[in-house]
Amino acid sequence: MEIKGAVALATGGNRGIGRAFARALLGHGAAKVYAGVRDPASVPDADVVPVRLDVTDEESVAAAAAVAGDVTIVINNAGVGGASTKLLEGSFDGARQAMEVNYFGTWAVSRAFAPVLARNGGGALVNMLSVASWVGQPEFPGYAASAR
Ligand SMILES: NC(=O)c1ccc[n+]([C@@H]2O[C@H](COP(=O)([O-])OP(=O)(O)OC[C@H]3O[C@@H](n4cnc5c(N)ncnc54)[C@H](OP(=O)(O)O)[C@@H]3O)[C@@H](O)[C@H]2O)c1
Repeated sequence: MEIKGAVALATGGNRGIGRAFARALLGHGAAKVYAGVRDPASVPDADVVPVRLDVTDEESVAAAAAVAGDVTIVINNAGVGGASTKLLEGSFDGARQAMEVNYFGTWAVSRAFAPVLARNGGGALVNMLSVASWVGQPEFPGYAASAR
């Protein structure tokens, strides 16, 4: 994967690991980095280009793929923990949200940006995973299943 001169997009690039990805890409010579975020005003870095993107909303994902049509690197980083769902009790809401964001969201972004990457000569699709995808933890059963 060639970063120097590349145009990249990191979902959730406004904070946490996604912001670190954005900073690292620019630090390694990327020409432009988009942050795919639910709230463009939440991107604190002036050298990162905010793009509105909710990974659970297919229209939003398609719109972001149209706006960021020059990308050659896409980083699927956006994710949620779903920690409110316990294994043997309580609501499934947290686990459902984890599946929507971590599993289907990653799939939706990959599907929407695959033709963009192909059109731009190939590029790279990077998925931010978790050790939880190999070793399930009873405290985070929804997250483990969703952690692609
Ligand atoms: N932290 C860890 O120890 C760890 C370990 C292994 C893997 N991971 C994975 O690494 C990734 C980032 O983790 P993190 O710790 O940096 O998480 P974080 O600080 O909680 O940040 C999560 C990011 O995902 C975004 N996001 C959530 N739902 C979204 C949606 N529907 N559409 C678009 N963006 C959405 C958030 O945006 P908002 O600001 O709008 O909420 C935020 O930018 C996640 O996929 C996580 O599963 C983290």
